[in-house]
Amino acid sequence: MLKRRTMLGGAVAGAGMLMIGRSHAASGVRPAGRQPWWKEAVIYEIYPRSFRDSNGDGIGDLPGILEKLPYIRDLGVDTIWLAPIFQSPNRDNGYDISDYRAIMPEFGTMDDFDRLMAKASSLGLRIILDLVVNHTSDQHPWFQKSRAAKDSPYRDYYIWRDTPQGHPPNNWPSVWGGSAWASDPATGSSYLHLFSPQQPDLNWDNPAVREEVFSIMKFWLDKGVAGFRMDVITMISKIPSFRDMTPEELKAPEYVYAAGPHLHAYLREMNDRVLSHYDVMTVGEAYGMRARDIPLFTDSARRELDMVFAFDIVHVDRQGWRKIDWPLSKLKQVYAAAGKPRSPDSWNTVFLDNHDQPRAVSRFGNDSPPFREASAKAIATMLLTQCGTPFIYQGEELGMTNLPFSGVEDFDDVQVPIQWEARVKRQGVDPDAFLESLKDMGRDNARSPMQWDATRNAGFTTANRPWFRVNPNYTEINAQACMQDPNSVYHYFQALLALRRKYPALIHGTYQDLDPDHHAVFLYARELGRSRLLILMNMSDRGFTYESSSLTRASLLISNMQHRGATQGVTWLEPWEARIYRA
Ligand code: NOJ
Ligand code: CA
Repeated sequence: MLKRRTMLGGAVAGAGMLMIGRSHAASGVRPAGRQPWWKEAVIYEIYPRSFRDSNGDGIGDLPGILEKLPYIRDLGVDTIWLAPIFQSPNRDNGYDISDYRAIMPEFGTMDDFDRLMAKASSLGLRIILDLVVNHTSDQHPWFQKSRAAKDSPYRDYYIWRDTPQGHPPNNWPSVWGGSAWASDPATGSSYLHLFSPQQPDLNWDNPAVREEVFSIMKFWLDKGVAGFRMDVITMISKIPSFRDMTPEELKAPEYVYAAGPHLHAYLREMNDRVLSHYDVMTVGEAYGMRARDIPLFTDSARRELDMVFAFDIVHVDRQGWRKIDWPLSKLKQVYAAAGKPRSPDSWNTVFLDNHDQPRAVSRFGNDSPPFREASAKAIATMLLTQCGTPFIYQGEELGMTNLPFSGVEDFDDVQVPIQWEARVKRQGVDPDAFLESLKDMGRDNARSPMQWDATRNAGFTTANRPWFRVNPNYTEINAQACMQDPNSVYHYFQALLALRRKYPALIHGTYQDLDPDHHAVFLYARELGRSRLLILMNMSDRGFTYESSSLTRASLLISNMQHRGATQGVTWLEPWEARIYRA
Protein backbone atom coordinates (compact mmCIF):
# COMPACT_ATOMS: atom_id res chain seq x y z
CA MET A 1 0.00 0.00 0.00
CA LEU A 2 1.32 3.42 -0.87
CA LYS A 3 1.83 5.80 1.98
CA ARG A 4 -0.21 8.91 1.43
CA ARG A 5 0.83 12.47 1.95
CA THR A 6 -1.64 14.60 3.83
CA MET A 7 -2.70 16.67 0.85
CA LEU A 8 -3.63 14.29 -1.89
CA GLY A 9 -6.71 14.67 -3.98
CA GLY A 10 -9.08 11.72 -3.72
CA ALA A 11 -8.34 10.99 -7.33
CA VAL A 12 -5.02 9.36 -6.55
CA ALA A 13 -6.10 7.59 -3.41
CA GLY A 14 -6.78 3.99 -4.24
CA ALA A 15 -4.52 3.78 -7.27
CA GLY A 16 -2.57 0.58 -6.67
CA MET A 17 0.86 -0.34 -7.99
CA LEU A 18 0.70 -1.03 -11.65
CA MET A 19 2.50 -4.23 -12.43
CA ILE A 20 3.94 -4.41 -15.89
CA GLY A 21 3.38 -7.75 -17.56
CA ARG A 22 6.54 -9.32 -18.92
CA SER A 23 4.89 -11.39 -21.61
CA HIS A 24 5.75 -8.97 -24.41
CA ALA A 25 9.08 -7.81 -23.06
CA ALA A 26 12.53 -9.17 -23.55
CA SER A 27 11.98 -11.08 -26.73
CA GLY A 28 9.50 -11.28 -29.57
CA VAL A 29 8.16 -8.31 -31.44
CA ARG A 30 5.50 -6.01 -30.09
CA PRO A 31 1.85 -7.03 -30.60
CA ALA A 32 0.24 -4.98 -33.38
CA GLY A 33 -1.93 -2.01 -32.43
CA ARG A 34 -0.61 -1.53 -28.89
CA GLN A 35 1.21 1.57 -27.74
CA PRO A 36 4.85 0.70 -27.14
CA TRP A 37 5.42 0.05 -23.45
CA TRP A 38 8.29 2.52 -23.21
CA LYS A 39 6.01 5.48 -23.89
CA GLU A 40 4.28 4.78 -20.59
CA ALA A 41 7.40 3.71 -18.72
CA VAL A 42 9.18 5.72 -16.06
CA ILE A 43 12.87 4.96 -15.93
CA TYR A 44 15.16 5.06 -12.91
CA GLU A 45 18.87 5.41 -13.57
CA ILE A 46 21.31 3.61 -11.29
CA TYR A 47 24.99 4.52 -11.18
CA PRO A 48 26.03 1.15 -9.76
CA ARG A 49 29.30 2.29 -8.24
CA SER A 50 27.45 4.68 -5.95
CA PHE A 51 24.17 2.90 -5.31
CA ARG A 52 24.68 0.24 -2.65
CA ASP A 53 27.75 -1.73 -1.55
CA SER A 54 26.82 -5.25 -0.39
CA ASN A 55 30.25 -6.62 0.53
CA GLY A 56 31.96 -3.78 2.35
CA ASP A 57 34.67 -2.94 -0.21
CA GLY A 58 33.40 0.62 -0.56
CA ILE A 59 32.09 0.13 -4.12
CA GLY A 60 28.47 -0.34 -5.08
CA ASP A 61 27.65 -3.66 -6.74
CA LEU A 62 24.97 -5.82 -8.34
CA PRO A 63 23.92 -7.65 -5.15
CA GLY A 64 23.52 -4.19 -3.59
CA ILE A 65 21.14 -3.24 -6.39
CA LEU A 66 19.26 -6.51 -5.97
CA GLU A 67 18.77 -5.77 -2.29
CA LYS A 68 17.21 -2.39 -3.13
CA LEU A 69 14.88 -3.50 -5.92
CA PRO A 70 11.80 -3.39 -3.68
CA TYR A 71 12.65 0.22 -2.82
CA ILE A 72 12.72 1.09 -6.52
CA ARG A 73 9.56 -0.85 -7.26
CA ASP A 74 7.73 0.84 -4.38
CA LEU A 75 8.61 4.25 -5.76
CA GLY A 76 6.42 3.32 -8.71
CA VAL A 77 8.87 3.20 -11.61
CA ASP A 78 8.89 0.21 -13.92
CA THR A 79 12.23 0.29 -15.73
CA ILE A 80 15.81 0.57 -14.53
CA TRP A 81 18.72 1.86 -16.58
CA LEU A 82 22.04 0.54 -15.29
CA ALA A 83 25.02 2.73 -16.14
CA PRO A 84 27.83 0.47 -17.43
CA ILE A 85 28.36 -2.76 -15.50
CA PHE A 86 30.95 -4.32 -17.82
CA GLN A 87 34.61 -5.06 -17.28
CA SER A 88 36.53 -1.83 -17.35
CA PRO A 89 39.70 -0.26 -15.99
CA ASN A 90 37.36 2.50 -14.77
CA ARG A 91 39.18 5.41 -16.21
CA ASP A 92 35.72 6.87 -16.83
CA ASN A 93 33.80 4.71 -14.34
CA GLY A 94 32.79 2.04 -16.81
CA TYR A 95 32.34 4.23 -19.89
CA ASP A 96 35.63 2.65 -21.01
CA ILE A 97 34.85 -1.02 -21.57
CA SER A 98 37.50 -3.72 -21.89
CA ASP A 99 35.12 -6.69 -22.20
CA TYR A 100 31.51 -6.18 -23.29
CA ARG A 101 30.44 -9.67 -22.27
CA ALA A 102 31.91 -9.71 -18.76
CA ILE A 103 30.63 -8.09 -15.57
CA MET A 104 33.04 -5.72 -13.85
CA PRO A 105 34.53 -7.89 -11.07
CA GLU A 106 34.02 -5.10 -8.52
CA PHE A 107 30.30 -5.23 -9.31
CA GLY A 108 29.95 -9.02 -9.12
CA THR A 109 29.61 -11.95 -11.47
CA MET A 110 27.40 -13.02 -14.35
CA ASP A 111 25.46 -15.11 -11.83
CA ASP A 112 24.81 -11.95 -9.84
CA PHE A 113 23.55 -10.32 -13.02
CA ASP A 114 21.27 -13.26 -13.83
CA ARG A 115 19.89 -13.17 -10.28
CA LEU A 116 19.31 -9.44 -10.59
CA MET A 117 17.40 -9.93 -13.84
CA ALA A 118 15.27 -12.70 -12.34
CA LYS A 119 14.42 -10.73 -9.22
CA ALA A 120 13.66 -7.57 -11.21
CA SER A 121 11.38 -9.53 -13.48
CA SER A 122 9.54 -11.04 -10.53
CA LEU A 123 8.90 -7.50 -9.26
CA GLY A 124 7.66 -6.28 -12.66
CA LEU A 125 10.80 -4.24 -13.31
CA ARG A 126 12.58 -4.14 -16.65
CA ILE A 127 16.30 -3.51 -16.96
CA ILE A 128 18.04 -1.63 -19.75
CA LEU A 129 21.80 -1.49 -20.16
CA ASP A 130 24.25 1.14 -21.31
CA LEU A 131 25.67 0.44 -24.75
CA VAL A 132 29.01 2.26 -24.98
CA VAL A 133 30.21 1.62 -28.51
CA ASN A 134 31.47 4.92 -29.85
CA HIS A 135 34.71 3.95 -28.13
CA THR A 136 36.21 1.15 -26.06
CA SER A 137 38.81 1.19 -23.33
CA ASP A 138 42.43 1.25 -24.47
CA GLN A 139 42.67 -1.99 -22.48
CA HIS A 140 40.18 -3.77 -24.74
CA PRO A 141 41.94 -6.67 -26.56
CA TRP A 142 40.79 -5.18 -29.88
CA PHE A 143 42.73 -2.01 -29.18
CA GLN A 144 45.70 -3.86 -27.76
CA LYS A 145 45.94 -5.84 -31.00
CA SER A 146 45.16 -2.79 -33.10
CA ARG A 147 47.97 -0.72 -31.68
CA ALA A 148 50.52 -3.56 -31.84
CA ALA A 149 51.12 -3.53 -35.61
CA LYS A 150 49.97 -1.75 -38.72
CA ASP A 151 49.09 -5.03 -40.38
CA SER A 152 47.07 -6.36 -37.47
CA PRO A 153 43.60 -7.58 -38.50
CA TYR A 154 42.32 -5.29 -35.73
CA ARG A 155 44.14 -2.20 -37.00
CA ASP A 156 41.06 -0.99 -38.82
CA TYR A 157 38.81 -1.40 -35.75
CA TYR A 158 40.03 2.04 -34.68
CA ILE A 159 40.92 5.27 -36.46
CA TRP A 160 44.64 5.64 -37.12
CA ARG A 161 46.61 8.24 -39.02
CA ASP A 162 50.32 8.21 -39.73
CA THR A 163 52.01 10.98 -37.79
CA PRO A 164 55.76 10.38 -38.06
CA GLN A 165 56.56 13.67 -36.31
CA GLY A 166 53.85 13.13 -33.73
CA HIS A 167 51.82 16.15 -34.89
CA PRO A 168 48.08 15.57 -34.71
CA PRO A 169 46.60 15.01 -38.18
CA ASN A 170 44.03 17.77 -37.75
CA ASN A 171 42.82 20.33 -35.21
CA TRP A 172 40.00 18.26 -33.73
CA PRO A 173 39.67 18.68 -29.98
CA SER A 174 38.47 16.03 -27.60
CA VAL A 175 35.02 16.81 -26.22
CA TRP A 176 36.65 17.54 -22.84
CA GLY A 177 39.60 19.56 -24.19
CA GLY A 178 43.06 18.98 -25.67
CA SER A 179 43.68 17.24 -28.97
CA ALA A 180 41.42 14.36 -29.99
CA TRP A 181 44.51 12.50 -31.23
CA ALA A 182 47.02 10.56 -29.18
CA SER A 183 50.29 9.56 -30.75
CA ASP A 184 51.26 5.98 -30.15
CA PRO A 185 54.95 5.13 -30.13
CA ALA A 186 54.39 1.47 -31.05
CA THR A 187 53.77 2.32 -34.71
CA GLY A 188 54.47 6.06 -34.86
CA SER A 189 50.82 6.75 -35.62
CA SER A 190 48.01 8.59 -33.85
CA TYR A 191 44.55 7.32 -32.95
CA LEU A 192 41.35 9.29 -32.53
CA HIS A 193 39.71 9.64 -29.12
CA LEU A 194 36.77 12.02 -28.81
CA PHE A 195 36.88 11.54 -25.02
CA SER A 196 39.93 10.67 -22.89
CA PRO A 197 43.05 9.16 -24.52
CA GLN A 198 42.11 5.92 -22.76
CA GLN A 199 38.86 5.80 -24.77
CA PRO A 200 39.88 5.22 -28.41
CA ASP A 201 37.07 5.68 -30.94
CA LEU A 202 35.88 2.63 -32.85
CA ASN A 203 35.85 2.77 -36.64
CA TRP A 204 32.22 2.17 -37.51
CA ASP A 205 33.02 2.35 -41.22
CA ASN A 206 34.55 -1.09 -40.79
CA PRO A 207 31.73 -3.66 -41.22
CA ALA A 208 33.52 -6.02 -38.83
CA VAL A 209 33.13 -3.46 -36.04
CA ARG A 210 29.42 -3.17 -36.70
CA GLU A 211 29.12 -6.97 -36.64
CA GLU A 212 30.87 -7.06 -33.27
CA VAL A 213 28.47 -4.46 -31.86
CA PHE A 214 25.38 -6.23 -33.16
CA SER A 215 26.59 -9.48 -31.68
CA ILE A 216 27.18 -7.84 -28.27
CA MET A 217 23.68 -6.38 -28.39
CA LYS A 218 22.16 -9.78 -29.14
CA PHE A 219 24.12 -11.35 -26.31
CA TRP A 220 22.44 -9.07 -23.75
CA LEU A 221 19.03 -8.97 -25.41
CA ASP A 222 18.96 -12.76 -25.37
CA LYS A 223 19.52 -12.55 -21.63
CA GLY A 224 16.26 -10.62 -21.42
CA VAL A 225 17.36 -7.01 -21.07
CA ALA A 226 14.66 -4.61 -22.19
CA GLY A 227 16.83 -2.33 -24.30
CA PHE A 228 19.72 0.07 -24.31
CA ARG A 229 20.70 3.58 -23.48
CA MET A 230 23.28 4.34 -26.17
CA ASP A 231 26.25 6.40 -25.13
CA VAL A 232 27.10 9.34 -27.49
CA ILE A 233 25.58 7.34 -30.31
CA THR A 234 25.41 10.47 -32.48
CA MET A 235 29.19 10.39 -32.84
CA ILE A 236 29.76 6.94 -34.36
CA SER A 237 30.10 8.12 -37.97
CA LYS A 238 33.13 10.34 -38.58
CA ILE A 239 33.50 12.92 -41.33
CA PRO A 240 35.59 11.07 -43.93
CA SER A 241 37.72 14.02 -45.00
CA PHE A 242 38.97 14.57 -41.46
CA ARG A 243 39.28 18.23 -42.47
CA ASP A 244 40.22 20.88 -39.93
CA MET A 245 37.34 22.51 -38.08
CA THR A 246 36.70 26.21 -38.61
CA PRO A 247 37.13 28.55 -35.60
CA GLU A 248 33.34 28.72 -35.36
CA GLU A 249 33.00 24.93 -35.34
CA LEU A 250 35.68 24.66 -32.68
CA LYS A 251 33.41 26.51 -30.25
CA ALA A 252 31.03 23.52 -30.24
CA PRO A 253 32.82 20.60 -31.91
CA GLU A 254 30.11 18.16 -30.85
CA TYR A 255 27.95 19.40 -33.73
CA VAL A 256 30.64 18.37 -36.19
CA TYR A 257 31.12 15.03 -34.47
CA ALA A 258 27.40 14.32 -34.65
CA ALA A 259 27.18 15.15 -38.35
CA GLY A 260 28.85 12.06 -39.79
CA PRO A 261 27.40 11.03 -43.15
CA HIS A 262 26.57 7.43 -42.24
CA LEU A 263 25.07 7.86 -38.79
CA HIS A 264 21.48 7.22 -39.85
CA ALA A 265 22.45 4.36 -42.14
CA TYR A 266 24.29 2.66 -39.27
CA LEU A 267 21.37 3.11 -36.91
CA ARG A 268 19.01 1.69 -39.47
CA GLU A 269 21.28 -1.27 -40.03
CA MET A 270 21.35 -1.82 -36.24
CA ASN A 271 17.59 -1.66 -36.17
CA ASP A 272 17.14 -4.08 -39.07
CA ARG A 273 19.73 -6.53 -37.88
CA VAL A 274 19.02 -6.48 -34.15
CA LEU A 275 16.43 -4.20 -32.60
CA SER A 276 13.48 -5.01 -34.85
CA HIS A 277 13.66 -8.63 -33.66
CA TYR A 278 12.94 -7.75 -30.04
CA ASP A 279 10.29 -5.70 -28.20
CA VAL A 280 12.77 -3.42 -26.54
CA MET A 281 13.41 0.28 -26.12
CA THR A 282 16.33 2.39 -27.18
CA VAL A 283 17.33 5.82 -26.02
CA GLY A 284 20.26 7.46 -27.73
CA GLU A 285 22.41 10.04 -26.05
CA ALA A 286 22.15 12.67 -28.76
CA TYR A 287 25.04 14.91 -27.87
CA GLY A 288 25.64 17.46 -30.61
CA MET A 289 22.17 17.08 -32.10
CA ARG A 290 19.88 20.05 -32.71
CA ALA A 291 16.32 19.80 -31.42
CA ARG A 292 14.88 20.06 -34.94
CA ASP A 293 16.73 16.88 -35.88
CA ILE A 294 15.17 14.68 -33.20
CA PRO A 295 12.64 13.09 -35.58
CA LEU A 296 15.48 11.93 -37.82
CA PHE A 297 16.31 9.50 -35.03
CA THR A 298 12.97 8.82 -33.43
CA ASP A 299 10.30 8.93 -36.10
CA SER A 300 9.18 5.32 -36.01
CA ALA A 301 8.83 5.13 -39.79
CA ARG A 302 12.59 5.67 -40.06
CA ARG A 303 13.29 2.55 -38.00
CA GLU A 304 16.25 3.91 -36.06
CA LEU A 305 15.84 4.67 -32.32
CA ASP A 306 12.80 5.07 -30.06
CA MET A 307 13.90 8.12 -28.10
CA VAL A 308 16.90 10.36 -27.61
CA PHE A 309 18.25 12.50 -24.83
CA ALA A 310 18.35 16.07 -26.13
CA PHE A 311 20.50 18.52 -24.20
CA ASP A 312 18.51 21.74 -24.58
CA ILE A 313 17.16 21.76 -21.03
CA VAL A 314 20.43 20.89 -19.31
CA HIS A 315 22.22 23.49 -21.41
CA VAL A 316 19.82 26.26 -20.52
CA ASP A 317 22.22 27.53 -17.83
CA ARG A 318 25.49 26.91 -19.69
CA GLN A 319 27.63 28.69 -22.19
CA GLY A 320 30.67 26.54 -22.92
CA TRP A 321 32.13 25.83 -19.48
CA ARG A 322 30.49 28.86 -17.91
CA LYS A 323 27.32 28.81 -15.83
CA ILE A 324 24.98 31.60 -16.88
CA ASP A 325 21.79 33.11 -15.55
CA TRP A 326 18.67 32.04 -17.40
CA PRO A 327 15.12 33.30 -17.46
CA LEU A 328 12.31 30.81 -16.85
CA SER A 329 10.92 31.69 -20.29
CA LYS A 330 13.96 30.00 -21.88
CA LEU A 331 13.13 26.71 -20.19
CA LYS A 332 9.47 27.08 -21.11
CA GLN A 333 10.38 27.62 -24.76
CA VAL A 334 12.32 24.38 -24.89
CA TYR A 335 9.46 22.44 -23.35
CA ALA A 336 6.90 24.13 -25.59
CA ALA A 337 8.91 23.20 -28.68
CA ALA A 338 9.24 19.63 -27.39
CA GLY A 339 5.49 19.56 -26.73
CA LYS A 340 4.61 20.26 -30.36
CA PRO A 341 4.46 16.99 -32.25
CA ARG A 342 7.57 17.18 -34.39
CA SER A 343 6.49 14.38 -36.63
CA PRO A 344 3.53 12.03 -36.61
CA ASP A 345 5.29 9.49 -34.46
CA SER A 346 8.27 10.81 -32.59
CA TRP A 347 8.64 10.56 -28.84
CA ASN A 348 10.64 12.58 -26.28
CA THR A 349 12.52 11.92 -23.09
CA VAL A 350 12.36 14.20 -20.06
CA PHE A 351 15.28 14.41 -17.64
CA LEU A 352 16.95 16.94 -15.39
CA ASP A 353 19.37 14.73 -13.49
CA ASN A 354 21.75 11.98 -14.49
CA HIS A 355 25.31 10.89 -13.70
CA ASP A 356 26.73 13.69 -15.89
CA GLN A 357 24.71 16.54 -14.44
CA PRO A 358 24.72 18.44 -11.16
CA ARG A 359 21.79 17.69 -8.86
CA ALA A 360 18.51 19.06 -10.20
CA VAL A 361 17.37 20.55 -6.90
CA SER A 362 20.62 22.52 -6.58
CA ARG A 363 20.35 23.72 -10.14
CA PHE A 364 16.71 24.24 -11.11
CA GLY A 365 15.40 24.51 -7.54
CA ASN A 366 16.90 25.93 -4.36
CA ASP A 367 18.75 23.48 -2.12
CA SER A 368 18.94 25.74 0.94
CA PRO A 369 17.02 24.27 3.90
CA PRO A 370 13.88 26.46 3.75
CA PHE A 371 13.28 25.63 0.08
CA ARG A 372 14.93 22.29 -0.66
CA GLU A 373 11.96 20.00 -0.18
CA ALA A 374 9.40 22.28 -1.78
CA SER A 375 11.58 23.01 -4.78
CA ALA A 376 12.58 19.34 -5.23
CA LYS A 377 8.86 18.55 -5.35
CA ALA A 378 8.10 21.42 -7.72
CA ILE A 379 10.68 20.30 -10.22
CA ALA A 380 9.54 16.69 -9.82
CA THR A 381 6.09 17.95 -10.80
CA MET A 382 7.60 19.41 -13.95
CA LEU A 383 9.71 16.33 -14.71
CA LEU A 384 6.80 13.92 -14.47
CA THR A 385 4.22 15.95 -16.40
CA GLN A 386 6.15 17.11 -19.46
CA CYS A 387 5.82 15.35 -22.84
CA GLY A 388 7.93 12.23 -23.03
CA THR A 389 9.27 9.32 -21.04
CA PRO A 390 10.72 10.60 -17.75
CA PHE A 391 14.08 9.53 -16.37
CA ILE A 392 14.72 9.80 -12.62
CA TYR A 393 18.30 9.58 -11.36
CA GLN A 394 19.12 7.80 -8.08
CA GLY A 395 18.69 10.14 -5.13
CA GLU A 396 16.59 12.64 -7.08
CA GLU A 397 13.57 11.11 -5.35
CA LEU A 398 15.14 12.10 -2.01
CA GLY A 399 15.98 15.63 -3.10
CA MET A 400 19.72 14.87 -2.87
CA THR A 401 21.85 17.97 -3.41
CA ASN A 402 25.18 18.96 -4.89
CA LEU A 403 28.30 18.09 -2.94
CA PRO A 404 30.54 20.64 -1.23
CA PHE A 405 33.95 20.91 -2.97
CA SER A 406 36.83 23.06 -1.78
CA GLY A 407 39.42 22.57 -4.51
CA VAL A 408 40.05 20.87 -7.79
CA GLU A 409 41.71 17.98 -5.93
CA ASP A 410 38.32 17.05 -4.45
CA PHE A 411 37.06 15.85 -7.82
CA ASP A 412 37.35 12.24 -8.94
CA ASP A 413 35.96 12.71 -12.46
CA VAL A 414 38.43 11.94 -15.31
CA GLN A 415 37.02 14.96 -17.14
CA VAL A 416 38.32 17.42 -14.55
CA PRO A 417 42.12 17.19 -15.02
CA ILE A 418 41.64 17.13 -18.81
CA GLN A 419 39.48 20.25 -18.71
CA TRP A 420 41.76 21.95 -16.20
CA GLU A 421 44.80 21.36 -18.40
CA ALA A 422 43.01 22.57 -21.55
CA ARG A 423 41.13 25.55 -20.13
CA VAL A 424 43.15 26.84 -17.22
CA LYS A 425 46.69 25.83 -18.14
CA ARG A 426 46.55 26.22 -21.93
CA GLN A 427 43.78 28.74 -22.60
CA GLY A 428 44.45 30.89 -19.55
CA VAL A 429 40.93 30.72 -18.09
CA ASP A 430 40.84 32.17 -14.57
CA PRO A 431 41.30 29.19 -12.18
CA ASP A 432 38.90 30.56 -9.58
CA ALA A 433 36.17 31.15 -12.11
CA PHE A 434 36.69 27.69 -13.55
CA LEU A 435 36.61 26.09 -10.11
CA GLU A 436 33.37 27.89 -9.25
CA SER A 437 31.81 26.58 -12.41
CA LEU A 438 33.04 23.05 -11.65
CA LYS A 439 31.50 23.21 -8.20
CA ASP A 440 28.13 24.11 -9.68
CA MET A 441 28.23 21.98 -12.80
CA GLY A 442 30.72 19.15 -12.13
CA ARG A 443 29.56 15.60 -12.78
CA ASP A 444 30.81 14.43 -9.38
CA ASN A 445 27.88 16.24 -7.80
CA ALA A 446 25.73 13.36 -8.95
CA ARG A 447 28.20 10.59 -8.17
CA SER A 448 28.45 10.70 -4.40
CA PRO A 449 27.03 7.59 -2.72
CA MET A 450 23.29 7.15 -2.41
CA GLN A 451 22.08 8.26 1.02
CA TRP A 452 20.19 5.34 2.51
CA ASP A 453 20.11 6.23 6.20
CA ALA A 454 21.75 8.30 8.92
CA THR A 455 24.36 5.71 9.92
CA ARG A 456 28.02 6.06 9.00
CA ASN A 457 28.62 6.56 5.27
CA ALA A 458 24.89 7.01 4.80
CA GLY A 459 24.34 3.24 4.96
CA PHE A 460 25.94 2.96 1.51
CA THR A 461 28.84 0.81 2.70
CA THR A 462 30.24 -0.76 5.85
CA ALA A 463 33.78 0.01 4.62
CA ASN A 464 35.70 2.74 6.42
CA ARG A 465 36.04 4.65 3.19
CA PRO A 466 33.60 4.55 0.33
CA TRP A 467 35.16 4.94 -3.16
CA PHE A 468 33.93 8.53 -3.20
CA ARG A 469 32.89 11.00 -0.53
CA VAL A 470 29.42 10.88 0.98
CA ASN A 471 27.58 14.19 1.05
CA PRO A 472 27.76 15.37 4.69
CA ASN A 473 24.07 16.22 4.62
CA TYR A 474 23.18 12.49 4.70
CA THR A 475 22.16 12.66 8.34
CA GLU A 476 19.16 14.71 7.26
CA ILE A 477 18.66 13.73 3.64
CA ASN A 478 18.34 9.97 3.35
CA ALA A 479 15.93 7.30 2.20
CA GLN A 480 15.03 6.08 5.67
CA ALA A 481 14.05 9.55 6.83
CA CYS A 482 12.02 9.99 3.65
CA MET A 483 10.19 6.72 4.21
CA GLN A 484 9.19 7.76 7.69
CA ASP A 485 7.90 11.17 6.65
CA PRO A 486 4.58 11.07 4.78
CA ASN A 487 5.35 14.53 3.37
CA SER A 488 8.79 13.63 2.05
CA VAL A 489 10.10 14.22 -1.45
CA TYR A 490 10.07 10.43 -1.95
CA HIS A 491 6.37 10.14 -1.14
CA TYR A 492 5.58 13.07 -3.36
CA PHE A 493 7.36 11.35 -6.28
CA GLN A 494 5.39 8.23 -5.47
CA ALA A 495 2.11 10.13 -5.53
CA LEU A 496 2.99 11.86 -8.79
CA LEU A 497 3.84 8.54 -10.39
CA ALA A 498 0.51 7.12 -9.28
CA LEU A 499 -1.23 10.17 -10.73
CA ARG A 500 0.57 9.66 -14.04
CA ARG A 501 -0.73 6.13 -14.25
CA LYS A 502 -4.24 7.29 -13.49
CA TYR A 503 -4.36 10.13 -16.03
CA PRO A 504 -3.16 9.11 -19.50
CA ALA A 505 -3.38 12.81 -20.48
CA LEU A 506 -0.11 13.22 -18.58
CA ILE A 507 1.49 10.75 -20.95
CA HIS A 508 -0.30 11.00 -24.26
CA GLY A 509 -1.96 14.40 -23.96
CA THR A 510 -1.25 17.54 -25.97
CA TYR A 511 0.80 20.32 -24.40
CA GLN A 512 -0.10 23.97 -24.09
CA ASP A 513 1.84 26.61 -22.16
CA LEU A 514 -0.81 28.90 -20.65
CA ASP A 515 1.49 31.67 -19.45
CA PRO A 516 4.73 31.58 -21.44
CA ASP A 517 6.01 34.98 -20.33
CA HIS A 518 5.51 34.89 -16.57
CA HIS A 519 8.90 35.18 -14.88
CA ALA A 520 8.12 32.77 -12.01
CA VAL A 521 4.97 30.80 -12.75
CA PHE A 522 4.98 27.76 -15.00
CA LEU A 523 1.39 26.88 -15.95
CA TYR A 524 0.51 24.42 -18.69
CA ALA A 525 -2.21 22.07 -19.78
CA ARG A 526 -2.06 18.44 -20.87
CA GLU A 527 -5.18 17.32 -22.67
CA LEU A 528 -6.40 14.01 -24.03
CA GLY A 529 -9.96 13.68 -25.26
CA ARG A 530 -12.14 15.11 -22.51
CA SER A 531 -9.46 14.88 -19.86
CA ARG A 532 -7.66 18.16 -19.23
CA LEU A 533 -5.06 18.60 -16.49
CA LEU A 534 -3.43 21.85 -15.42
CA ILE A 535 0.04 21.91 -13.96
CA LEU A 536 0.92 25.00 -11.94
CA MET A 537 4.27 25.77 -10.32
CA ASN A 538 5.82 28.74 -8.64
CA MET A 539 9.47 28.36 -9.65
CA SER A 540 10.76 31.02 -7.29
CA ASP A 541 11.65 31.74 -3.66
CA ARG A 542 8.90 34.32 -3.32
CA GLY A 543 5.19 33.92 -2.56
CA PHE A 544 2.63 36.03 -4.45
CA THR A 545 -0.95 36.21 -5.64
CA TYR A 546 -1.52 34.73 -9.05
CA GLU A 547 -4.52 34.98 -11.28
CA SER A 548 -5.44 32.91 -14.29
CA SER A 549 -8.87 32.32 -15.75
CA SER A 550 -7.76 28.76 -16.53
CA LEU A 551 -7.88 27.96 -12.84
CA THR A 552 -11.56 28.84 -12.45
CA ARG A 553 -13.53 25.67 -11.74
CA ALA A 554 -10.39 23.53 -11.67
CA SER A 555 -10.30 20.87 -9.00
CA LEU A 556 -7.10 20.13 -7.17
CA LEU A 557 -5.58 16.64 -7.52
CA ILE A 558 -2.25 17.04 -5.81
CA SER A 559 -0.08 19.73 -4.28
CA ASN A 560 3.24 19.95 -2.49
CA MET A 561 1.68 22.28 0.10
CA GLN A 562 -1.25 21.94 2.46
CA HIS A 563 -4.77 22.23 0.96
CA ARG A 564 -4.92 25.20 -1.35
CA GLY A 565 -7.24 25.71 -4.24
CA ALA A 566 -7.97 28.60 -6.56
CA THR A 567 -11.05 30.68 -5.92
CA GLN A 568 -12.37 32.41 -9.03
CA GLY A 569 -9.02 31.85 -10.70
CA VAL A 570 -7.14 33.83 -8.05
CA THR A 571 -4.76 32.14 -5.68
CA TRP A 572 -1.84 32.70 -3.35
CA LEU A 573 1.26 30.73 -4.32
CA GLU A 574 3.86 29.91 -1.71
CA PRO A 575 7.52 29.78 -2.81
CA TRP A 576 7.99 26.67 -4.98
CA GLU A 577 4.38 25.66 -4.63
CA ALA A 578 3.24 23.08 -7.18
CA ARG A 579 -0.23 21.81 -7.95
CA ILE A 580 -1.98 19.66 -10.48
CA TYR A 581 -5.65 20.29 -11.23
CA ARG A 582 -8.29 18.56 -13.22
CA ALA A 583 -9.99 21.23 -15.33
C1 NOJ B 1 28.46 10.10 -21.93
C2 NOJ B 1 28.41 9.45 -20.59
O1 NOJ B 1 27.16 9.69 -20.00
C3 NOJ B 1 29.55 10.02 -19.81
O2 NOJ B 1 29.49 9.69 -18.44
C4 NOJ B 1 30.83 9.53 -20.44
O3 NOJ B 1 31.93 10.12 -19.79
C5 NOJ B 1 30.88 9.91 -21.93
N1 NOJ B 1 29.64 9.67 -22.60
C6 NOJ B 1 31.94 9.11 -22.63
O4 NOJ B 1 31.57 7.77 -22.67
CA1 CA C 1 31.02 -3.82 -3.21
